[in-house]
Amino acid sequence: MRKNIVAGNWKMNTTVQEGVELAKQVNDCVKAGHNNCDVVICVPFTHLCPVAGVIDTAVLGLGAENCADKLSGAYTGEVSAPMVASTGAGYVILGHSERRQYYGETNETLKAKTRLALDNNLIPIFCVGEVLEERENGTYNDVVSSQVEALFDLDANDFSKIVIAYEPVWAIGTGKTATADQAQDMHAHIRKVIEQKYGKEIADNTSILYGGSCKPTNARELFAKPDVDGGLIGGAALKADSFMGIVEAFN
Ligand code: PGA
Repeated sequence: MRKNIVAGNWKMNTTVQEGVELAKQVNDCVKAGHNNCDVVICVPFTHLCPVAGVIDTAVLGLGAENCADKLSGAYTGEVSAPMVASTGAGYVILGHSERRQYYGETNETLKAKTRLALDNNLIPIFCVGEVLEERENGTYNDVVSSQVEALFDLDANDFSKIVIAYEPVWAIGTGKTATADQAQDMHAHIRKVIEQKYGKEIADNTSILYGGSCKPTNARELFAKPDVDGGLIGGAALKADSFMGIVEAFN
């Protein structure tokens, strides 16, 4: 059956030194606890190597927050999927709404990034989610379907490696969490869309995480929903105790 996963998304926060300290703390907690989920931290590119050096990636997964849509070459400032993989990372967040919104990422660029991530044995944590206007005008299911369908060029074997993160944009960093019922409805919708394309077995085995102002105080209610398989955590991942409070919601 599908895995439960709690993944931190540090975004553009912490210096390397602060990040290494935070990673060590999370690593110690994960090692000491009996967690009923996989735990992953996704960190800035500059942090990948030093963090890989202080954590046990067998118990605490490591990921990047993005990768390039090209394999190599004259793309100043970009970081490729093979570069990310060579640090010891096993995951990469793709299509975060901040990337879509501020850096113009489209379904086309995300298809290329996803292909390169998979070719380099990185597990994509592929983000989807509607903006407030789409929530309010009722088009949110269609918006999210079309974001998920951007992955439908993948064959079944490749698709089965993807983790989906549903992050309603209006809930990210706003303190305004989707209700557990809103999350469940969307996660069930996403699973149905996957089932129609790839069949029930793959749909049932796909981990679908919720993201958007997830905290220790609301994680338990969200994760109790049958189609919510964990969380992608921004702000609350920047302190070991609040992040672990969310991990413990599965206990
Ligand atoms: P948040 O961010 O938990 O700070 O709302 C989640 C995300 O953007 O992944």
